[in-house]
Amino acid sequence: MFDTDRFIADCRSALEEDRGTGKAVREIVARAVADPAAIIRTLGEPKRAGLNVLHHTPDLTILHLLWGPHMLIMPHDHRMTAVIGIYGGREDNIFWRRVAEEDGASRIEAAGAKSLCTGDVTILGKDIIHSVSNPIPKLTGAIHVYWGKDFFGIDKSEWDPETLRERPYDKEKVARLFEESNAGLATSH
Ligand SMILES: [Fe+2]
Repeated sequence: MFDTDRFIADCRSALEEDRGTGKAVREIVARAVADPAAIIRTLGEPKRAGLNVLHHTPDLTILHLLWGPHMLIMPHDHRMTAVIGIYGGREDNIFWRRVAEEDGASRIEAAGAKSLCTGDVTILGKDIIHSVSNPIPKLTGAIHVYWGKDFFGIDKSEWDPETLRERPYDKEKVARLFEESNAGLATSH
């Protein structure tokens, strides 16, 4: 069974055990997403896109992410280390790196990609910039663990999807993306 309180406690002791490298947390998340049915029994059958907070303290944030069908999130950073595990669907990541432009403005270029399926787990370093897409016509479910800083309290960046120029992360806009995705889900039923 997936016990949320137990999972949070396990993540916290794993972080103490591996001094924040993420390897022990990765094992905890891998064990959880290896049994999607257990997660669904506890967190519910995925019905709506959303960013659901399972745990939030100034040094540890655990999210239950549900990406809507074909949802896209522009390039962004987190400025803290993360472990991401998928328990249903698929999450395609493009990784980006910063390039300096002649005028000194910050821009990015694509540097790699990683496609995550059910049961896959990955560690994202604190400097990672990624964009995320759910390429399938159904919800994708993921557990995200972030640590070392206050996920909701720090400044972050996003990059304009068209010009790839840096700007402050707009969390209200991201909330709207989830709402729009849910509006699409409502009309498709
Ligand atoms: Fe992200």
